[in-house]
Amino acid sequence: MSKVLVAYFSASGVTAKLAKRLAESVGADVGEIVPEKPYTSADLDWTNKKSRSSVEMNDPSARPEIADSALDMAAYDTVFVGFPIWWGVAPRIIDTFLESYDFSGKKIVPFCTSGGSGVGRSDTELHKDVSADVKWEKGRLINRPDAEEIRSWLAKVL
Ligand SMILES: Cc1cc2nc3c(=O)[nH]c(=O)nc-3n(C[C@H](O)[C@H](O)[C@H](O)COP(=O)(O)O)c2cc1C
Repeated sequence: MSKVLVAYFSASGVTAKLAKRLAESVGADVGEIVPEKPYTSADLDWTNKKSRSSVEMNDPSARPEIADSALDMAAYDTVFVGFPIWWGVAPRIIDTFLESYDFSGKKIVPFCTSGGSGVGRSDTELHKDVSADVKWEKGRLINRPDAEEIRSWLAKVL
C-alpha cells in the first residue's frame, strides 16, 4: 500500500487545520514544516515592505531555514505539501522544503489556503524545485473545505 505524508507550513493555523483533516481522511502521517526562526506577527506584516515576509517574498532566492526534523522521506510514495498563499505564491520555506529532500519517483500534491487569491503560479513555481521524475499534481486551493469536494479530489489524486 502506498504510504502518504501530509507536510505543511502554517503561520496562523489555517493550513495546519486543513492538513490534519486531510491526513485523517486518508490515514496519512503529518509533518509540520517548522521554521528554524519562528515568524512573529511583525514578520508577517504584509503592509510593511521591510517585514521579514515581505523581504523574503521579494527575493525569489530566499530560503528560510527549516528546524531539524526527523522526516524519513524515503518511507513515502506520496507527499501532500500544504502552504498559505503569500503574495500570490508559496512562502519561500516551501522551496526550502522541496529542495531539502529527494522526491524522485514520488508523487507531490500541492494544496493551499488563502485570503481569497487562487493557486496562481504557486504550484508551477514550486514544480521547478524538484527533479523531472516527480509526479506533480496540479495545486489545489481549499478555503472552504467541503467534505464531498475533498473526498472526490482525494480519490482523483491518490
Ligand atoms: C505575508 C502574508 C502574505 C499574504 N498574501 C496573500 C495573498 O497574496 N493572497 C491572499 O489571498 N492571501 C494572502 N495572505 C493570507 C493567507 O494566505 C491566509 O490567511 C492563509 O489562510 C493563512 O494560512 P496559515 O494560517 O496556515 O498561515 C497572506 C498572508 C501573509 C501572512
